[in-house]
Amino acid sequence: MSATARKTAPMPQDILARKGGVPLVSLTAYTTPMAEMMDGICDFVLVGDSVGMVLHGLPSTVGVTMDMMIMHGKAVRRGLSASMLVMDMPFGSYEESTEQAFRNAAILMAETNAGAVKLEGGVGMADTINFLVSRGIPVMAHIGLTPQSINTLGGYKVQGRGEEAAALIADAKAVAEAGAFAVVLEKVPAVLADQITQEVAIPTIGIGASVNCDGQILVVDDMLGLFTAFKAKFVKRFAHLGEDARGAIEAYAQEVQARSFPASEHTFAADAPKASK
Ligand code: KIV
Repeated sequence: MSATARKTAPMPQDILARKGGVPLVSLTAYTTPMAEMMDGICDFVLVGDSVGMVLHGLPSTVGVTMDMMIMHGKAVRRGLSASMLVMDMPFGSYEESTEQAFRNAAILMAETNAGAVKLEGGVGMADTINFLVSRGIPVMAHIGLTPQSINTLGGYKVQGRGEEAAALIADAKAVAEAGAFAVVLEKVPAVLADQITQEVAIPTIGIGASVNCDGQILVVDDMLGLFTAFKAKFVKRFAHLGEDARGAIEAYAQEVQARSFPASEHTFAADAPKASK
C-alpha cells in the first residue's frame, strides 16, 4: 500500500492541527534528488544539522555552520513543492541571545524559503522560541537527546529516565507555551513520550521515542542504509542502499579491469547514424 501523497505543502498551522490525528510523516534531506523522492510523501522535510555527520564526515553536529545549512537548504528547497521545509539552526547560531537567534533564523528562512526553523532546547530556550514566534518565525522545538549538547550530556544516552522525567516534561510544556508548533522528542523512554504527547497541545515528533507520538522522523540516510558508520537502536533500515552501492562499485571495477565495460552499446561509431545522440 502506498502512503497518501500530498499535493500542496502544509503550513506550520496545518502541522499543529494534526495533533492527535493521522501521524505526521517526516524525514531529513540534504540534496535535491533526495528531496524530490520524498516530496508530497512527507508532511515536512527537515534539513537537519545531521548533514554534518551524514554527508560531511564530521564527528558530531557541533561543527555544522550556517553556510553549510544554507547550501543544503537551497538544494532541498529546489526538490520540494508539496512538503514543508524545516531548517535546523546549527550550533552557535541561536544560543547567545534572542537577537542573534532572530538574525540567523531570518537568514535561514529568507535564503531557503523554509516554512519554519528547528532549534534544540527546552526550558532554557523558551524565551528564544517566544521571541522568534512573536516576530514571525515558526519554530519546531527539539528536546530529549539534543545532539548539539553532546559534550555536556556526556554521550548519546537515553534522556528522561527516572528522576530526569520531570525535567523533560517541563521542557515540553515550556516550548509549547512559548509558541512552538511541534516538538521533536529524541531518544526518550516510550512511556514518557506517551505522557508528553498526552500533556502538551502541540504535535510530538518521535525519533527513538514512541509509536504513539503525533508523528515520526528519521535521518533518511539511516533508514535507507546509506549511512552505516553506526546504527542507533531506534533506526529501522527500510532499505540497504549502501550495500547495493558497494556491490555496484565492485562490479564496475571488475568490468573495467576485465575490459568488458564499456561495451559496444556504450561507445560511438565514427560515422554518426541519423538518430544517434
Ligand atoms: O539533525 C537532524 O537530523 C535532526 C533529526 C534527527 C530530528 O535533528
